[in-house]
Amino acid sequence: MATVSDLTQRRCYSPAALGIAPTSPSANRHFSVAATNDILQHCAAKLSSANGTMTLDIRVFEPEHHAQARGLWESTEGVGLSEADSFENMRRFLERNPGLSFVATDKQLIVATILCGHDGRRGLIHHLAVASSHRRRGLGRALVRRALSALHQEGIQKCHLLVFNGNVSGRAFWDRIGAEERTALGIFSLLT
Ligand SMILES: CC(C)(COP(=O)(O)OP(=O)(O)OC[C@H]1O[C@@H](n2cnc3c(N)ncnc32)[C@H](O)[C@@H]1OP(=O)(O)O)[C@@H](O)C(=O)NCCC(=O)NCCS
Repeated sequence: MATVSDLTQRRCYSPAALGIAPTSPSANRHFSVAATNDILQHCAAKLSSANGTMTLDIRVFEPEHHAQARGLWESTEGVGLSEADSFENMRRFLERNPGLSFVATDKQLIVATILCGHDGRRGLIHHLAVASSHRRRGLGRALVRRALSALHQEGIQKCHLLVFNGNVSGRAFWDRIGAEERTALGIFSLLT
């Protein structure tokens, strides 16, 4: 029987492993979002049958997830925190962008997050974080797909994301899942 380690090395629920990978780089850029639930269920089943200990689930990010999520962000490299991440500000963000942000849980413990919102024109992703114990199994990709699918259903055609220049592995992830780096654009910020 396959072990969890075997499954991890095969990245059990990557679309490629399940035979539903995009057929071209351009297809990859536009994410076939519909299959995400199937991917997740397939993966959870595989991991559960391997040792009966891992039960993955993706659900909408609710305010009560804040404390656990914050703990994950604080221990995750590449995640920048500010006053925008307080409970009250996060509650407001979630209320303003319902059903666009997600957590992944393993036995009720939050092991990954994605925050996503939009301004009526473009989406923006923040705080994609996967616990180091759960990386390279397709969770990051699955969360991105869920967020993009939710944006698409709201009529939003494009989503941006911010990543620190020095975050080499984060940049490699975005590149790998087909995100386009906008080298002609920079980010400027002003206080309100
Ligand atoms: C970046 C991060 C979210 C990736 O999560 P993950 O669940 O391990 O990613 P996945 O398993 O879904 O990987 C999707 C693809 O990206 C590739 N990938 C993931 N991490 C990678 C890395 N560090 N370097 C190169 N490729 C990587 C995977 O191999 C996979 O490719 P494949 O399916 O074609 O084989 C996770 O490493 C993390 O939380 N990092 C710290 C926080 C961070 O940097 N967030 C993103 C920047 S905002």
